[in-house]
Amino acid sequence: MDLGIAGRVAIVTGGSRGIGRAVAERLCREGAHVAVCARNQGSLADAQRAIEAVGTGRVLTVEADLTEPEAAGRVVDAAVAAWGRIDILVNNAGAARGLPFDELTHERWLENMQLKLFGYLRMARLVLPHLRKNGWVAS
Ligand SMILES: NC(=O)c1ccc[n+]([C@@H]2O[C@H](COP(=O)([O-])OP(=O)(O)OC[C@H]3O[C@@H](n4cnc5c(N)ncnc54)[C@H](OP(=O)(O)O)[C@@H]3O)[C@@H](O)[C@H]2O)c1
Repeated sequence: MDLGIAGRVAIVTGGSRGIGRAVAERLCREGAHVAVCARNQGSLADAQRAIEAVGTGRVLTVEADLTEPEAAGRVVDAAVAAWGRIDILVNNAGAARGLPFDELTHERWLENMQLKLFGYLRMARLVLPHLRKNGWVAS
């Protein structure tokens, strides 16, 4: 399949394993360059090798905990510094842990909100101007 995204630039959060890594591999196979972030540097290094092996796009990795307010900016800055543009954002970081309601602690709720609500919002807010500039979002 040719998605017509060769040379485009994507950010995949949580791209070191699981669904995010599969998405990053697919984008790379389509010729897109991919910035992948996660917390564990060892997993990122392994993922970078594996993702680059399947496609023609290039891959950069950023060690970032997206519950931390400044982390999203570092990821976006790294992608722009490397390739000068951003075209695609895949907000994916985090895991799906099924727990009964009464076993979910308040701390776990807060952690999940920090990552999967505010972390995703921070990333979307930072990437949006780049998507607009490249004509992917109506002004
Ligand atoms: N698998 C499912 O059945 C399913 C169902 C519904 C929704 N989802 C959603 O799909 C997404 C991916 O799920 P998955 O099963 O592929 O998870 P996974 O295999 O556990 O991968 C999670 C990825 O997110 C990264 N990550 C976790 N916390 C992070 C943080 N604070 N900052 C930055 N990166 C972080 C992990 O790397 P590090 O640990 O190194 O940071 C890893 O790269 C999640 O948002 C999940 O909720 C999954």
